[in-house]
Amino acid sequence: MKTGIIACICFLLLALIYSCQSDTSIEFKQYYSAGSLVYQSHCQNCHGAKGEGLAALIPPLTDTSSLKKHQTKLPCIMQNGLKGKTTIAGKDFDGAMPAAGLTPIEIAQVVTYVGNSFGNKLGVVTGDDVGVALRKCN
Ligand code: HEC
Repeated sequence: MKTGIIACICFLLLALIYSCQSDTSIEFKQYYSAGSLVYQSHCQNCHGAKGEGLAALIPPLTDTSSLKKHQTKLPCIMQNGLKGKTTIAGKDFDGAMPAAGLTPIEIAQVVTYVGNSFGNKLGVVTGDDVGVALRKCN
């Protein structure tokens, strides 16, 4: 009897853990695939289909350490654009990226896409995360 109950609890725990994991991976897939469309229509012209950038004009999005460094700022960069000197992948850029005019959800999608493409693995960024980050833009 007792072992039956323990087995039952273990089973429930496993089911719970499993369902939590698949929730995040479903969420990830939704953000990622929607983000790839946002990227194609709003970013690819400049940053390239493989995030390779364009010579000294447009920085690549393949430099994980630089993206990580700016991770909390990425939603603000999408919302407000970016200007001025910045060093990415060991190269100096001094250009201007226009504001993308995206909704917070689209920002979450495209940041999830870029953060997990081109050799990056930064995990999912949700609409809630973006909401929090956008309140801290200066
Ligand atoms: C008109 C061309 C253009 C478009 C469109 C554009 N960018 Fe940019 N992006 C730039 C330039 C130029 C910079 C560097 C700005 C600077 O020199 O300060 C930049 C910088 C960035 C950075 C900073 C990189 C880092 O490592 O900190 C990220 C991330 C980024 N862009 C992502 C995106 C995403 C995602 C989109 C689409 C929503 C997008 N960009 C659309 C030109 C563009």
